[in-house]
Amino acid sequence: MLIRTLDNGFTHLNHSEITPQAHYLGRRELLKGLATGTAGLALSGWAGREALAQTARPGVLAPLPGSVSAVVGANVMDKPTAYKDASSYNNFYEFGTDKSDPAKYAHTLKTQPWTVEIEGLVKKPGRYGLEDLMKLSAMEERVYRLRCVEGWSMVIPWVGYSLADLIKRVEPQPGAKYVEFITQADEKTMPGVRGGALDWPYVEGLRLDEALHPLTLLAFGMYGEVLPKQNGAPVRLVVPWKYGFKSGKSIVKIRFTDKQPRSSWEKAAPQEYGFYSNVNPTVDHPRWSQASERRIGEDGLLAKKRKTQMFNGYEAQVGQLYAGMDLKKFF
Ligand code: MTE
Repeated sequence: MLIRTLDNGFTHLNHSEITPQAHYLGRRELLKGLATGTAGLALSGWAGREALAQTARPGVLAPLPGSVSAVVGANVMDKPTAYKDASSYNNFYEFGTDKSDPAKYAHTLKTQPWTVEIEGLVKKPGRYGLEDLMKLSAMEERVYRLRCVEGWSMVIPWVGYSLADLIKRVEPQPGAKYVEFITQADEKTMPGVRGGALDWPYVEGLRLDEALHPLTLLAFGMYGEVLPKQNGAPVRLVVPWKYGFKSGKSIVKIRFTDKQPRSSWEKAAPQEYGFYSNVNPTVDHPRWSQASERRIGEDGLLAKKRKTQMFNGYEAQVGQLYAGMDLKKFF
């Protein structure tokens, strides 16, 4: 059994290595919460009790707690997806295109040492070691909906801080209008990178004001622990009002530019994946509707699909970023 602490190097176990002990630890955390009274709010009803049991630390990876975020909209009330589902049903094409591939193969990803380079139109470019990046701002827990363009959604308690905290630190130059996120592409450790599913490295981009929105999260963990490799360890983006593919995993470079970046998905199919990719039930993907979604974990014959909400339910917080824009054109 490996000892899992932050200091001994973010020990990441593969999903298949999760033992029944995870359940035991989850219960233990729940009981601890009950004893200290911190669980009281969540236990006000059966749904809350069940949700808490699921979000309690799964006990698989090193703990990474965060304080409850005060950012408006950062804590949706939906029941969180089970950790097991969130860490075994993934898109991470660097490890294969099947949903089960990342959990099977991402154990080869080397997350230590890890650096993130900040470059382009900033006054303070530089290379951050992971530890320094993690210390740059206070860790918060935020329960976000994540809606995939394929029509499924999850609710995940992430741990991280607003990307804006990092952006303000590096001081964008006046000419900076966009931020490009470049992720790890290592043929030796990422079998998918040897294939041609996408143009590697995986690249995503945001407008600078989108990147500065307080809901845009630089995430280092989920469910109170460091990120599993299949979910984008050791650092990823989470942009909750955009389709999931905008949330790049395993980021190694953040580049500030005056030109709108071209993402890997835009390069692969420009008529299907636009730069904005805001969740929008009124703009269909050319090959399927985006009006409804299947929440992972709500399977079964009688499970009803959910109506997809404008901006994934974050319209009050982010709608003004797109005021006056034709969202059919800027999809
Ligand atoms: N980041 C990288 N580097 N490679 C990818 O293939 N897939 C994207 C996004 N980030 C992807 C990525 C897509 S399509 C989705 S839906 C989300 O990651 C899935 O995140 P999750 O597996 O943590 O739910």
